[in-house]
Amino acid sequence: MIDNELLEEIKKSIDDADAILITAGAGMGVDSGLPDFRGTSGFWKSYPVVEKLGLSFEDMANPQWFEKDPALAWAFYGHRFNLYRDTTPHCGFKLLKDLVESKNDNYFILTSNVDGQFQKAGFDEDKIAEVHGSILHWQCSNVECESEIFEAEDKDIDVDIDQFKALEIPHCKECQSVLRPNILMFGDNTFLEDRVEDQEDSFHVWLAKLQFTNQKLVVIELGAGTTIPTIRHKSEHVVETLDNAKLIRINPRESQVDKSYGFSVPLGSLEALETILKPC
Ligand SMILES: NC(=O)c1ccc[n+]([C@@H]2O[C@H](COP(=O)([O-])OP(=O)(O)OC[C@H]3O[C@@H](n4cnc5c(N)ncnc54)[C@H](O)[C@@H]3O)[C@@H](O)[C@H]2O)c1
Ligand SMILES: [Zn+2]
Repeated sequence: MIDNELLEEIKKSIDDADAILITAGAGMGVDSGLPDFRGTSGFWKSYPVVEKLGLSFEDMANPQWFEKDPALAWAFYGHRFNLYRDTTPHCGFKLLKDLVESKNDNYFILTSNVDGQFQKAGFDEDKIAEVHGSILHWQCSNVECESEIFEAEDKDIDVDIDQFKALEIPHCKECQSVLRPNILMFGDNTFLEDRVEDQEDSFHVWLAKLQFTNQKLVVIELGAGTTIPTIRHKSEHVVETLDNAKLIRINPRESQVDKSYGFSVPLGSLEALETILKPC
């Protein structure tokens, strides 16, 4: 629940806005049935097999496995690849889509999610920056190889979830090395940055235009955690930089925000969007 006065203030700032920045972390996918991670214990709840192996999220999300144990690496990423690809975005995505259409599509999306859910919900690929990459895009794990990032094939990766082993490993057509998703991992020195860099350049061009023309911006942040606070910091940085910006932080557990520029909404993404925008 949020009180009426706060709700009216939030609605007014959205009505008055010229532009919308949507920033999203793993919590945005929870109402579509996707797990968030929230630290090691939260991660193990979603991946009990990985707990048995004694690996934290940081240990698991490490490019070394593509070399040392590709079947393990692709068990983790293949399982997530199948899951994200087969998931339908919840109705909150549609509410956001209607909102940005009402602002003449003057919007941008910044997300640390690698699940491709915003594209699936119909948002424009050219207005999305996936700051940690995308599981639906792959690359070679061999730094010497000159092949580029490409869209993954439209088929499931076969994974034995009990053994936590992928039963097939995708290989590079150029050099036969193991492929990997174009996702930024921990201690990662083989991640190809071109795609994310292009997306971030587009974001900065859009933001500079807002700033230059002094447009009113509302940042709607959904489900961004504190363990890896990339998205929270980006949301805060944007509202601190622009003269005319407000932040709406939606998160059922950690919605705390500086009151001088932000509104705290302690609800799940779908419930918050239905409360603020309209029922689905
Ligand atoms: N779907 C994905 O692509 C996915 C999923 C999990 C983690 N990750 C990766 O893990 C890293 C950590 O990401 P993070 O900080 O976004 O995730 P996190 O798992 O650390 O935090 C999730 C946040 O979402 C909140 N939350 C839970 N349920 C929610 C709901 N129904 N509505 C709104 N918020 C809800 C939690 O309180 C928490 O603050 C990132 O690098 C991200 O790329 C990606
Ligand atoms: Zn290669």
